[in-house]
Amino acid sequence: MLADRSIAYARYVDRSRGLVNRKIFVDPEIYQVERENIFGRCWLYLTHETQIAKPHDFVNVFMGEEPVIVCRDGDGAVHAFINSCRHRGNKVCRVDAGNTKAFVCPYHGWTFDTRGDLQGVPGHRDLYFGELDRADWGLVKVAQIASYRGLIFGTFDPEAPSLEEYLGDMRWGLDLLFDQGDFEAVPNITRWSMDVNWKFASDNAIGDMYHGAWSHRSAMLAGHISGNGTRSASIKPPQRDNGFTMVTAYGHGFNANYLEAAAQLDTPLAAWRKDPAARARLGELRSRVNRANMLVFPNLFVNSGSRELMLRNPFGPERIEIWKTILVDKNMPPETRRQQVRASNRHFGPAGMFEQDDGENWDQSTAGARGNISQRYDLNYSMGVGHGTFVEDEQSPPRIESLYNENAQLWMYHVWAEFMDAESWPQLRAEHDEPRGVL
Ligand code: FES
Ligand code: FE
Repeated sequence: MLADRSIAYARYVDRSRGLVNRKIFVDPEIYQVERENIFGRCWLYLTHETQIAKPHDFVNVFMGEEPVIVCRDGDGAVHAFINSCRHRGNKVCRVDAGNTKAFVCPYHGWTFDTRGDLQGVPGHRDLYFGELDRADWGLVKVAQIASYRGLIFGTFDPEAPSLEEYLGDMRWGLDLLFDQGDFEAVPNITRWSMDVNWKFASDNAIGDMYHGAWSHRSAMLAGHISGNGTRSASIKPPQRDNGFTMVTAYGHGFNANYLEAAAQLDTPLAAWRKDPAARARLGELRSRVNRANMLVFPNLFVNSGSRELMLRNPFGPERIEIWKTILVDKNMPPETRRQQVRASNRHFGPAGMFEQDDGENWDQSTAGARGNISQRYDLNYSMGVGHGTFVEDEQSPPRIESLYNENAQLWMYHVWAEFMDAESWPQLRAEHDEPRGVL
């Protein structure tokens, strides 16, 4: 527990009663602190290794609002640096992705290599730099880069713990997807924007099985086939206990529901269930899971059922861009791969039937946080408060044996406040809470 709980941000989250203050979703000053203490500190998802497969491949991404080039050098090592020339700040690369040995700034022609180092300065070389050390004028580097199961992450904070420590038990959750096969990204990313606060999208990802049977009811009644290729077994809400919930230190977590019907075993994306090796990798508990909606804090949604990565990147307190990547098993037959991509795009994405339901909800939640009178009345995240007992056994890291609860969402806001109140990573590492006991 962080030392001084009377300080600024912990007061917006009441864990014992399950309340969250609406101001945190719209306040511009709070957002500016989030840019420093969350997006300036956390490990953020950048790209999939297969999207920069060859030497000198690059992609342009964002870490918070910072434009970042992620690329491989000639030896295949991955680098990431801010896409802003050190001369007048222009972008040195304006295309989304490609392959190049150098980034040449369009304004005056400063040239940087694929390690981000400054290689060339046109004209009047002798007059430049004076007492400055030219070697210091490369592109600003992302402090640390690492990958897990093909996902490349970066952090701007040199004091951040390793990616392994940051993900912690969430690796067990991510393996729920990655142990199913050998994945690569479908080329290109689908992008769209929404006028919503990023945290509403994250709290839906970490633990809102609750909304599905209600919000997405019309899509299901219309016969929509979900992203993992299954028609929903029932439009009734699943049993409250037919699944489990996990959360981890540093704010990651998920709800996972169990298979409900034999029909769910027979879909194109369920082929791994007949592979004894995959079942052995996953173990008994994870092999029973139909789908897990997972959040890697702060803003990466990973769907184990439809095999999608959805990055929800903030551009202001009330705006996000969503970048969607579809992952396919390299060993899939081409027709199955096409089926998966089609099903995924009908489900999530700008024309996705579920996506439009979700986006409209987050838009409304964000609008509902704007009113100065409304802000006196907290949002209610109390479902399961005091009942989220962690089971600790050999089957998994600590888990809560219920599917429907708001424990994971409330935990996410608690961790959000820990990040916001901490002075630094060393303080956060020393004083943060572990999810144990009862939530
Ligand atoms: Fe890049 Fe001048 S702004 S070379
Ligand atoms: Fe939804």
